[in-house]
Amino acid sequence: MSNQPRVFISDAMEGLSERAGRDLLSPLRARAECEIWSLARRPDREELEAALGAADGWLCMLTDPVDEALMAACPQLRVVSSFSVGIDHIDLAAATRRGILVGNTPGVLTETTADLAFALLLAAARRMGEAGAYLRAGAWAESQWEIDAFVGQDLHGATLGIVGLGPIGQAVARRAAGFGMEVLGWSRSGRAVPGVRAVAFDALLAESDFVSLHVALVAETRGLMDARALAAMKPGAVLVNTARGGIVDEEALVDALRSGQLGAVGLDVYAQEPLSADHPLLAFPNAVLMPHIGSASVRTRVRMADLAVENLVAGLEGRALPECANPAAREAAP
Ligand code: GLV
Repeated sequence: MSNQPRVFISDAMEGLSERAGRDLLSPLRARAECEIWSLARRPDREELEAALGAADGWLCMLTDPVDEALMAACPQLRVVSSFSVGIDHIDLAAATRRGILVGNTPGVLTETTADLAFALLLAAARRMGEAGAYLRAGAWAESQWEIDAFVGQDLHGATLGIVGLGPIGQAVARRAAGFGMEVLGWSRSGRAVPGVRAVAFDALLAESDFVSLHVALVAETRGLMDARALAAMKPGAVLVNTARGGIVDEEALVDALRSGQLGAVGLDVYAQEPLSADHPLLAFPNAVLMPHIGSASVRTRVRMADLAVENLVAGLEGRALPECANPAAREAAP
């Protein structure tokens, strides 16, 4: 029997490897016995338990629920490396208690995610979803250029409120400066960022024409944008969320779109993913909706894959993970 560690990899990454021109999983194949999930659908709970029962390491996706019960069913597990910066799908406290190191992929996706947030700001402001659908439906061919067709809002000269001033929030602020926007910012830590006027949360909501969310989803930020917060925004303002769906109360968001309190939204993330085909948000032409593609450029996804693999290899070899969310787990390790 081989004495190599065993790992489970939740996604074969074949398409991405092809785009990269190399096998992204080869460092793991060389060092571990790999069980690789290769179906197009995600593994369900039973399949995860079966695959992880004897695994020492796991390269998981943000769609995998890494909860305490699952970790309890995997007594060998020493390291979980997530192909994501967000780790709200992982019970970090339970992992730390159990001595399981958790790796993630911050940094490498910062600029790409900020690009998408800005694309959503622009698309929502300039009604690009609505206008594109109008053209594709053949409606323009039967009409003409009209002076007030799809008139929207300007970004330049407007005020952008950034909720969360970590690396992605700061990258959005840099873009906003280039667009001639006034930039307000609020973060839980009260961090000061050059070029960003730090204000209280409610002042940010009241003064911003556009609000972009960049906080992690943790207990304190779950439902941060609730009915009260949405009502505190400027009437007709635009909300963009590329962070996590759970930060926004989606029912309240639908109400705010219905009443016209929000002028438009640009969303990449949802409380429940994938978004159901009959979700009420789909009824709003002024909702620009993306299927969680914030980090989806080839270069960034390849860098995420490399970092996720490096984290897992380091954990299996007993070295410090290049990006570790819970270094304290080392003390609890058996
Ligand atoms: C994407 O949402 C990530 O957390 O990497």
